[in-house]
Amino acid sequence: MVHSLNINNYYVLTKDSDGRYEEILRDIFKYNISIIKVFRNIEDTKVLLISTKYGKFILKFFAPKMKQKERFAKSMLKGDYYENLFRQTERVRNEGVHSVNDFYLLAEKKTLRFVHHYIMLIEYIDGIELADINPIDDGLKSKINTSIIELHQHGMVSGDPHKGNFIVANNEVRIIDLSGKRCTAGRRAKDRIDLERHFGIYNKTKDLGFYILIYKKKLRNFIRKLKGKEVR
Ligand SMILES: Nc1ncnc2c1ncn2[C@@H]1O[C@H](COP(=O)(O)OP(=O)(O)O)[C@@H](O)[C@H]1O
Ligand SMILES: [Mg+2]
Repeated sequence: MVHSLNINNYYVLTKDSDGRYEEILRDIFKYNISIIKVFRNIEDTKVLLISTKYGKFILKFFAPKMKQKERFAKSMLKGDYYENLFRQTERVRNEGVHSVNDFYLLAEKKTLRFVHHYIMLIEYIDGIELADINPIDDGLKSKINTSIIELHQHGMVSGDPHKGNFIVANNEVRIIDLSGKRCTAGRRAKDRIDLERHFGIYNKTKDLGFYILIYKKKLRNFIRKLKGKEVR
């Protein structure tokens, strides 16, 4: 059950109500955390592995700096991206899709519906990133494909299924860094096309979503050509 509460003027969602994740967030606000590893440290995103009395967690900070005005306008019309991801994760994991990286807490600093920054507490998956496995054999490719097909069947997309967004742990493929976007036919087709591009997993499903995507790309390239730009 998703719980919502307010802590230090942050809008907070937690996976359940036993108070553990809330306690970790209060420690984060007091800088009372122990950092084991820094995975990502760029201007708008920090991804850290932290140790708490409840075990290890991934802590992610995201403070988008780009297109502030556009994002403000969009926030009034559209749903909140990470809140959708939080709720989708809870739903599909309850439906038995265990490949999806669990999401324990989301804290957002908001003005009206506009989010200035996000703090996320995520399940730490202790395994090997696909980027570090070479070559990726057919057995593993088949597991990667199955994980994405299962995800789609449960109404969720990866949005960016490249080698850095999968981890193999206990012989199972786990998906991280998912998108909270709506699971449309076009986004499902894009996931499949990306699997073909990154892993050579042949896309057998040539549905309407696939053709719309291909058509859109052709149209975009045609316009780029007209403008004299390089075709991608
Ligand atoms: N749940 C996790 N378990 C283990 N490692 C993770 C997890 N989430 C992120 N990482 C590590 O941090 C890196 C960056 O995290 P990610 O969520 O993919 O951020 P970005 O949006 O910058 O790609 C990953 O490629 C992986 O190495
Ligand atoms: Mg990533």
